[in-house]
Amino acid sequence: MIITIDGPAAAGKGTLAASLAKKYNLAYFDTGMVYRAVGLEMLLNGYDLSDNKKAEAFAENLTFPKMMELSKNPEFRSLNGSRAASAVAAMPKVREALLQMQQNFSHNPVFADGSKADGAIYDGRDTGTVICPHADIKFFVTASPEVRAMRRFKEYQEKGQAANYEEVLEQTIARDKNDYARAGSQPAADAIHFDTSDLSIDEVFNQVCAIIEKKQAAV
Ligand code: C5P
Repeated sequence: MIITIDGPAAAGKGTLAASLAKKYNLAYFDTGMVYRAVGLEMLLNGYDLSDNKKAEAFAENLTFPKMMELSKNPEFRSLNGSRAASAVAAMPKVREALLQMQQNFSHNPVFADGSKADGAIYDGRDTGTVICPHADIKFFVTASPEVRAMRRFKEYQEKGQAANYEEVLEQTIARDKNDYARAGSQPAADAIHFDTSDLSIDEVFNQVCAIIEKKQAAV
């Protein structure tokens, strides 16, 4: 079974995807990581974020183990890291270079320890449209920019990273604009939509599980 969860930053996709992966024993691919890895390589090597050629070279050479290694860097999920990810994700050749790696995972899904899984949950922006258009179930999860910015702001605070709410809100809106301008980032026509602005994590999780189980029972 392949499930995709797409939607804007901080909509609750990651938390939902990780909980679903655990409950249904599925492998989990957070596809934002591929762009964060390339963006971080650009930052670590001091390259300008508009340098397409350098970003393409990093994308072409990215492997799963390399991505996991880079994810340990504190900048991976920082405000700067997010900005860098969004910048390189806007480059069509970078996206093209990272496509195969993301699609391969659906044919050979593995857990974090490398053992084989029977299916996968993807989260990202284009997983139900470009990466896995034939997914069994597709969700599109969103929330208002203010609610999402507040969630991210709290995450930064919890990690002790410097941030102020206004700046995070500004970046949330800028990233939405950047992320949704490109093809494939719009919801898949067959995606089930969820607005999590006024729902708790548990409420979303329970509603999504009910849909998955209904779908499984119908197969
Ligand atoms: O989901 P996350 O915030 O980690 O994603 C980081 C960035 O990677 C996003 O802002 C977006 O620009 C890009 N991204 C993408 N397509 C995906 C996943 C993430 O363009 N499938």
